[in-house]
Amino acid sequence: MRNVLVKCALAAVVLPGLLLTSLLAQTTKVASTPPMGWNSWNHFRDKIDDATVRAQADAMVSSGMRDAGYLYVNIDDTWEGERDAKGIIHPNTKFPDMKALADYVHGKGLKLGIYSSPGPKTCAKYEGSYGHEEQDAQTYADWGIDYLKYDLCGLRDMMKEAGSPEAAHKIMVDAYTKMHNALLKTGRPIVYSLCQYGNDAVWRWGASVGGNLWRTTGDISDRYARMADIGFSQAGIAKYAGPGHWNDPDMLEVGNGGMNAEEYRTHMSLWAILAAPLLAGNDLSKMTPETISLLTNHEVVAIDQDTAGIQGDRVSTEGPMEVWVRPLADGSKAVGLFNRHPQPMDMRVDFRQLGFNGPVKLHDVWTGNNSEAKNGEYQTRVPGHGVVLLRVSK
Ligand code: GLA
Repeated sequence: MRNVLVKCALAAVVLPGLLLTSLLAQTTKVASTPPMGWNSWNHFRDKIDDATVRAQADAMVSSGMRDAGYLYVNIDDTWEGERDAKGIIHPNTKFPDMKALADYVHGKGLKLGIYSSPGPKTCAKYEGSYGHEEQDAQTYADWGIDYLKYDLCGLRDMMKEAGSPEAAHKIMVDAYTKMHNALLKTGRPIVYSLCQYGNDAVWRWGASVGGNLWRTTGDISDRYARMADIGFSQAGIAKYAGPGHWNDPDMLEVGNGGMNAEEYRTHMSLWAILAAPLLAGNDLSKMTPETISLLTNHEVVAIDQDTAGIQGDRVSTEGPMEVWVRPLADGSKAVGLFNRHPQPMDMRVDFRQLGFNGPVKLHDVWTGNNSEAKNGEYQTRVPGHGVVLLRVSK
């Protein structure tokens, strides 16, 4: 009897672990590295339509972004139309034929993403998936959709009526699980992006509801202060990310014009160290050479997409100066020296404190300069709001 009890108790402990392992095996089939692509929201908001999405796909190819690794072309909120008598969702007049659009995007070697909410309404008050989860997942699969961003919004009203934080949490978790199961049932690999702004420490349970990525914060904007607030607040959650399941500090603002080049370099460098999804949020059809080079810097992208999938973390702060480190698959480390002050600052690092013994080789990712730190110590001037991003090896 005692044995049986022990076995039962063991099963209860082991089973959730096994379930989680098989869930992770499923989710790793997509997003084995952080998803890269583009999303319509940051730049276009509700001014998004079929022609604009095609133009973005064209530009993703002609600018070299596709070849740099950007793959997903994601339509955010405001595509949704009405449901028909059978409950099937149709796009509104801005998107006359979603399947034809998916075919077009696929024809360019890219993938198409879409957006919905577990609530009755999306954030922009369009039709959500509440009560139609399986139907919608199947519709997306029939169209050829490859990525779903599932944004809490409309469900929050129902959660407020739940009576307790625990009951509200359960409503949310059940809703995200329901859509995950619906997506699995279609048999089509679809990246599942949770968007609920980091509530209830989503990094702790996002993978267990099938999320390939989950937003960890509220919305980004095209301002240094907001980007920095979000990016530098990511310290401490690295252990929850890995192949198939990533922390998402929101989409990129590079190229939207509200930050200078140093600030956008900080944005790219920090997101790469964070193993963050790289979803451009600008108008790809109107990019300056500087914007293209910021987005496509292959060494920065390589850090973001490093196959070990270990998210970096903050190792030290001194006033506005922060050092962040990400271990990479080849044994080297990406080291970001970030200066959050508006004026330049001299920053010092002792690589011995970052796990290196003896001399180290330094490669400055943005300038391409190579140097050596013979005694393991290094000092450099970092521009205001800027970064020096190094690849450090023995
Ligand atoms: C929320 C999300 C944004 C965007 C909008 C669309 O604010 O966080 O990323 O999807 O909704 O309405």
